[in-house]
Amino acid sequence: MDMKRIRRSLSSPTSPPDLDCETGAYRPSGERKHGGQMLRLVTVIVCFLGFLLLMAAVSGFHRNPSFNHLRQFTESGHVELNAGLEEEQLESSKSQKAKEDRFLGGLLAAGFEEQSCLSRYQSASFRKSHSHSPSDYLRRRLRKYEELHQKCAPNSDLYNTAAEQLKPGRRGSQTTDCSYVVWISYSGLGNRMLTLASAFLYALLTNRVLLVDRGADLTDLFCEPFPGASWLLPLDFPLSQFRNFNISSPESYGNMLKKNVINNISQNLPPPPFMYLHLGHDYGEHDKLFFCQDDQHLLRGVPWLVLRSDNYFVPSLFLIPSYEEELGKLFPKRDAVFHHLARYLLHPTNSVWGLITRYYQSYLAGADERVGIQIRVFENESGTFQHVLEQVLRCTQNQKILPQVAARNETVLITNDKRLKAVLLTSLSSGYADLIRNMYWEHPAITGEMISVHQPSHEEHQQTDKQTHNMKAWAEMYLLSLTDVLVTSAWSTFGYVAQGLGGMKPWILVKPENRMVPDPPCLLAMSMEPCFHAPPFYDCKTKRGADTGEMVPHVRHCEDMSWGLKVVDRDNW
Ligand SMILES: *[C@@H]1O[C@H](CO)[C@@H](O)[C@H](O)[C@H]1NC(C)=O
Ligand SMILES: *[C@@H]1O[C@H](CO)[C@@H](O)[C@H](O)[C@H]1NC(C)=O
Ligand SMILES: *[C@@H]1O[C@H](CO)[C@@H](O)[C@H](O)[C@H]1NC(C)=O
Ligand SMILES: *[C@@H]1O[C@H](CO)[C@@H](O)[C@H](O)[C@H]1NC(C)=O
Repeated sequence: MDMKRIRRSLSSPTSPPDLDCETGAYRPSGERKHGGQMLRLVTVIVCFLGFLLLMAAVSGFHRNPSFNHLRQFTESGHVELNAGLEEEQLESSKSQKAKEDRFLGGLLAAGFEEQSCLSRYQSASFRKSHSHSPSDYLRRRLRKYEELHQKCAPNSDLYNTAAEQLKPGRRGSQTTDCSYVVWISYSGLGNRMLTLASAFLYALLTNRVLLVDRGADLTDLFCEPFPGASWLLPLDFPLSQFRNFNISSPESYGNMLKKNVINNISQNLPPPPFMYLHLGHDYGEHDKLFFCQDDQHLLRGVPWLVLRSDNYFVPSLFLIPSYEEELGKLFPKRDAVFHHLARYLLHPTNSVWGLITRYYQSYLAGADERVGIQIRVFENESGTFQHVLEQVLRCTQNQKILPQVAARNETVLITNDKRLKAVLLTSLSSGYADLIRNMYWEHPAITGEMISVHQPSHEEHQQTDKQTHNMKAWAEMYLLSLTDVLVTSAWSTFGYVAQGLGGMKPWILVKPENRMVPDPPCLLAMSMEPCFHAPPFYDCKTKRGADTGEMVPHVRHCEDMSWGLKVVDRDNW
């Protein structure tokens, strides 16, 4: 490997400080920034052709024009083919398999208009056959949740009754049939995806309905996930100040506990119509009691819980004894929580799906193997860092993810069987991709493999158009999830989303100290779950501080953050 040359060609990082702080927890400098110019014309032309092919391939199942008339709902909510004719029976058994795959092993419900969200129907054809099937129980619970969501949907009678209580002067003791979790749009895109999954799991566990604050761009990014009813919080939601709730709000559960309001409630007063749950990385001791069983019991009677978080708080839900059995049934393979919930909830909109499919078809589909490398540098300056490049190369070459290159005067045996490896690299800086691409151009790989390196977007400076910025960031996370081998950066929510969606244990680039290449440069993750960066360290039973990473076998400290918590599959530990 010709490191000297690469070293020389690195420019010193002199760009302005990276101060994009929208990401929240433990993020000393900016999360990924995107946008910048992208190969527009080429992409449009090349990809349009690719996309036509793709459409032809994935819609084969739909060729029979009468298909739509044949499908009907069964009790379980699955689509079934009601085939009377022999020919149709044959078609039926063939499409049985396709149907299973199309709906991700029964994870997704039927009953959507396909054109409204192509990714929901087409994603299966881009992914390797999934080895992580959802449990029957999870499927049943999701169908049950969908029923509940429809019953309590925005603007339904039950919703209106529940919302009525939030109006000033109406704060009474009325009981409601529907209770809700309202998710506040907060923090960077990666964090938001992690908290959406966390809030949804909490809603599942507590028989609540999840409604989401659309924020600036939620509807540009994600399709509606539930059939027949919206998950968007209506714009006339009566609790108009909910977005301003913060750590010091008197309406927060933590502050109510602190001021002893709660104890009075539990004794004699009816529960308040709503409560604010502050679960952001900066939350206090009292807020953290949310993760205790007794407190969960108290919250049960509150119809509206308004939740703000920038963290994947699922691991701490696994430490609440009353949810243990249910979680075990939902996720017999425990480290697939985010994997299933993200695939269930987070479907790219048609615009984002276009970004994903055009890029995939143009640059990745033709390769024999796809390698995803996600580089996120926690430095307060932007630029290309030599220690990071060296770390990436050492990691990928040590682990035989990418081949070594031959020295200038070495000859490499040319084989006829030329394997093509496509590297999808995401980073704020374009330097890493340029240098790695150049290395494999100037030197042959000793394995004889061909290496192509692709970076969808890079943005050295603050993004101007936030809308496309997040759409591209989402497309990049999704593209990374379509690779065969994944290398991610420590502490990065962007990487967590990619590994979870893809169902992969990534190689994690250890966080460098003092701009030195860590040894080892990377570690194989013990599970595909995201890390909870700000968990409580408290034993609810003894009411003392305790190491929550040592309480149950399937919740451990993270590989990339010693104080973080993540769910692991017990069998693999
Ligand atoms: C980066 O942070 C260090 C301290 O952590 C500081 O000394 C240095 O000036 C900062 N650089 C820039 C460009 O802000
Ligand atoms: C919390 O919100 C209140 C009201 O919106 C505001 O006055 C206060 O400054 C905020 N506090 C913090 C810590 O953000
Ligand atoms: C709660 O009860 C305590 C004593 O029982 C009382 O001092 C306090 O004022 C009450 N708080 C509220 C908000 O009612
Ligand atoms: C390649 O060149 C280096 C010096 O540039 C020399 O030390 C080495 O022996 C050469 N290797 C071969 C295989 O010729």
